[in-house]
Amino acid sequence: MRKSFKIAIAAGATVAILGPLGYFWQQSLVPSTYDMASMGYPDYGGGQQAGHAHATGGLDVAALKGPSTGDPDVAVTLTARAEKGKYTLNGATPGPEIRAVKGQLVQVTLVNDNIQDGITLHWHGVDVPNAEDGVAGVTQDAVRPGQSYVYRFVVQDAGTYWYHSHQVSHEQVRLGLFGALVVAEPVFSEGIDQVVQVHTYDGRRTINGAVGESALAAHAGQVVRARVINTDAGPLRAWVSGAPYRVSAIDGRPVSSPTDISDKYVTVTAGGRVDLTFTMPASGAARVDVGTGVALVAGGLAAGPEPPGVVDLLSYGTPAPLGFDPAKATRNFDYRIGRRAGFLDGKPGLWWSINGHLFPDVPMFMVSTGDIVRMTIANSSGEVHPMHLHGHHAVVLSRNGVAATGSPWWFDSLDVGDGETYEIAFVADNPGIWVDHCHNLKHAADGLLAHVAYTNVSTPFRIGGSVGNQPE
Ligand code: C2O
Ligand code: CU
Repeated sequence: MRKSFKIAIAAGATVAILGPLGYFWQQSLVPSTYDMASMGYPDYGGGQQAGHAHATGGLDVAALKGPSTGDPDVAVTLTARAEKGKYTLNGATPGPEIRAVKGQLVQVTLVNDNIQDGITLHWHGVDVPNAEDGVAGVTQDAVRPGQSYVYRFVVQDAGTYWYHSHQVSHEQVRLGLFGALVVAEPVFSEGIDQVVQVHTYDGRRTINGAVGESALAAHAGQVVRARVINTDAGPLRAWVSGAPYRVSAIDGRPVSSPTDISDKYVTVTAGGRVDLTFTMPASGAARVDVGTGVALVAGGLAAGPEPPGVVDLLSYGTPAPLGFDPAKATRNFDYRIGRRAGFLDGKPGLWWSINGHLFPDVPMFMVSTGDIVRMTIANSSGEVHPMHLHGHHAVVLSRNGVAATGSPWWFDSLDVGDGETYEIAFVADNPGIWVDHCHNLKHAADGLLAHVAYTNVSTPFRIGGSVGNQPE
């Protein structure tokens, strides 16, 4: 072969490879500012397309606020500060525990002292009106240093929740911008109500900010409700020793007729919560463990081995009415998580994919108010993903084709393991634009994020732009 001919072939091959590569690279670039609700492609899930006003008219996210008048029942000011490699709220991390009673109006004034990237607060698991949801660039602008922002919402459902920043969240949550939010039932309870907020700072797992074992102030005969909150990026094992326990709530929703557990741990999804209840034994010795050596301990009970089995929430508890019929679904969506080579905002790599697409070219799951929505979440990506839909609680219908047989398993955060398929359902009853993402927040920042959008809702906020909105 003549040399010039070889060169010509090589050059041709280079163009053949680099040409499309250049095209895909260019296509993957995210503009410096954009409307989250006009990225990707609409997926109507076989339902109505009418009323699509994503870009024009309809409801404005900014108008979907909580009550603007009325004295709050609970009023808190939280001042965020960057100090010594940590982020604090009112000088501490975790931030203050916020407690309210079901039905109360909560008002939180967020003040940004000096966090340069800006901040927000998201009320994880509380199904607030969209404008109170705290997602920078989708439901509000990031709060810049020196600025403040007021959130007001009524807490409709008792349960265990938490709050955290949703601006550059993969960094800000890890560094401490979060806290617990407990909504109590309006009835007086004589038991011990204890938040067990788990977070790993610099590789060290803590409960309510403390490493190792801390005291649980409970004595014989008292009923304890341990509200375990997983603020980390991966699944957490939690269990009680010294007494049988029950999983009495998951993600702020009660479990129907929970039964006693004694030789199993429960897995808490990243972002998720479980309430473990038990009666203190006559010995006065019991403990709540959230991993080896990290526990709340009453009566000096020594650590035992991790229980050998896991509670399967698919069959735990007793069935109860859902309040809607998933067989009457008006939308059916797939959220198939994979991993493939490509460009994410111009960066080559192996990235998370949604239905084969890379962010931002991902589906927008379009719904209308009143829809019954079914979604199949499947994962073949090689890692577990704790999937979190904002603004709604969904119920698990099946896992790997096996129907749920226990208590309705309501959740807002669900671990979908590699090779697993979950069928879930929810009612579209909270208009807005809601992110639906992995709560391993680095994964979300790496593109494992889509949104559920109501057909008649648009947002005036933009990702990027002069305020630098960057929700993940
Ligand atoms: Cu707890 Cu979108 O997050
Ligand atoms: Cu993930």
